[in-house]
Amino acid sequence: MSPSHPEPDPPITATGRVARAGGRAVDATRWALVLWARWALMDLGPRAVLASRAKRGDALAQILTGRGGWGSQYPAFETIRAAGRLVPSRLGVATVDHALCREILRDRRFATVTPDDLGMPGPLRGILARTDPGLPNPVEPPAMLVSEPPDHTRYRQLVARSFTPRSIETMRDRVGELSRTLLDRLEQRPTAELIGEYATMLPVTVIAELLGLPDEAHEPFIEWGEQAAPLLDVGLDWRTFRRACGGLRSMDRYLRDHFARLRADGDAPGESDPSAAHPFTRLARDGELTERELITNAALLVGAGFETTVNLIGNGVVLLLQHPEQLAALREDPGGWPNAVEEILRFESPVQMTGRTATEPVTLADRDLPAGAVVSLLLAGANRDPAVFDRPGEFDITRTNARDNLAFGTGIHACIGAALARMEATVALPALFERFPDLGLATAPDPSQNVTLHGFRRVEVRLGRARKHV
Ligand code: HEM
Repeated sequence: MSPSHPEPDPPITATGRVARAGGRAVDATRWALVLWARWALMDLGPRAVLASRAKRGDALAQILTGRGGWGSQYPAFETIRAAGRLVPSRLGVATVDHALCREILRDRRFATVTPDDLGMPGPLRGILARTDPGLPNPVEPPAMLVSEPPDHTRYRQLVARSFTPRSIETMRDRVGELSRTLLDRLEQRPTAELIGEYATMLPVTVIAELLGLPDEAHEPFIEWGEQAAPLLDVGLDWRTFRRACGGLRSMDRYLRDHFARLRADGDAPGESDPSAAHPFTRLARDGELTERELITNAALLVGAGFETTVNLIGNGVVLLLQHPEQLAALREDPGGWPNAVEEILRFESPVQMTGRTATEPVTLADRDLPAGAVVSLLLAGANRDPAVFDRPGEFDITRTNARDNLAFGTGIHACIGAALARMEATVALPALFERFPDLGLATAPDPSQNVTLHGFRRVEVRLGRARKHV
């Protein structure tokens, strides 16, 4: 059976045990009930409130629902900016202020947001705890993204070594080789869909190699990652939520088997076992993390490893095709690519927002926030803050402070994959434009429906002639 097509009846119970024949129907029903209860608690209520507030013109609700289409968030950011540095609304507090976003992300009186911070009364929280489906959810502990010290420090330190700029630099040649192989496949073709055929394939291959996952895992992980990506948004519809959990469940099963195999192989390691160099191979064998900590953080790294970078590459392709004079300048002076990548990160930030909860009463920007207040940090709005960036609404690859963008966050949760994503984009974009000098959009790019992860679902291009790589 292909891993991308799990059997229709979920064979895993809510506690993660494999159901025996006879118990299947019961488990499938229980699974659906567990998911529905969680969806009803976490998404149904916010969904209704968001829809009604968005209709009444609430800027934050309009941003969070993403209903206005590509680019509609930018005027809403300006509405919030005009209202102040820290703007309260029925949906919580929001900011598009660069200095304030930076300050909050670095302030230890704020913690990452988990389902416990949704302000639910005790009995509902009890239901939430009892309906934990045990999935490797990127926005629930023990994912490092939403864990706090000391757990966060422990998770992060165990893998950080593999993601330092120096360690990532050693992969540059391999990334160049991968991009050439992918571009070779496009030659002799009049058109291509660059998101699926290039912008996703490159980072998924790189992160899978880095973590020691086999080639045949790429395709299923792309499918599961796409299914799970909406979990970063609020107020999902039931179908999207159920699909996302299905993607997580498939990832969970795959990684559980994968790590079990690694542990079995590790009982009798060969003289030189190449897979032992991969961070999760080591962790699976050491037993330093529980099974759930291991699987959740592995799934987070794989998912974050390509679901974000695909948008950096895709948004870059579209922006540069829409600004041919800037593309021509990069062709003239390839030394400008690193700054161009920073400007792409600033101008169309692949991760548009994050959030933080005050863990104690805090006074900030002349406002008193009670303990438990949730602040929406609209990073993409901060990246257009006129107090930091001149002419913030203009795309300009020569902008001298483009690197001051907050696209990767800052503080203890600053993106662990920033060096990797930057390196991949500075290889993938020049390689594409060098190989196909006449590249052009064939149709209008098709934006993805996700809100937090910001990019295109499809970018159809005319390839034109191919220039041979030397
Ligand atoms: C353009 C590409 C990327 C963007 C824009 C991006 C953005 C971000 C942002 C904004 C955060 C901080 C979230 C917060 O503070 O709440 C973050 C954290 C994180 N990112 Fe990335 N990311 C990218 C690529 C990657 C890659 C390639 C990986 C995989 C290696 C990765 C793995 C992670 C992880 C594991 C965290 C959580 C770190 C922690 O909590 O300590 N990201 N990312």
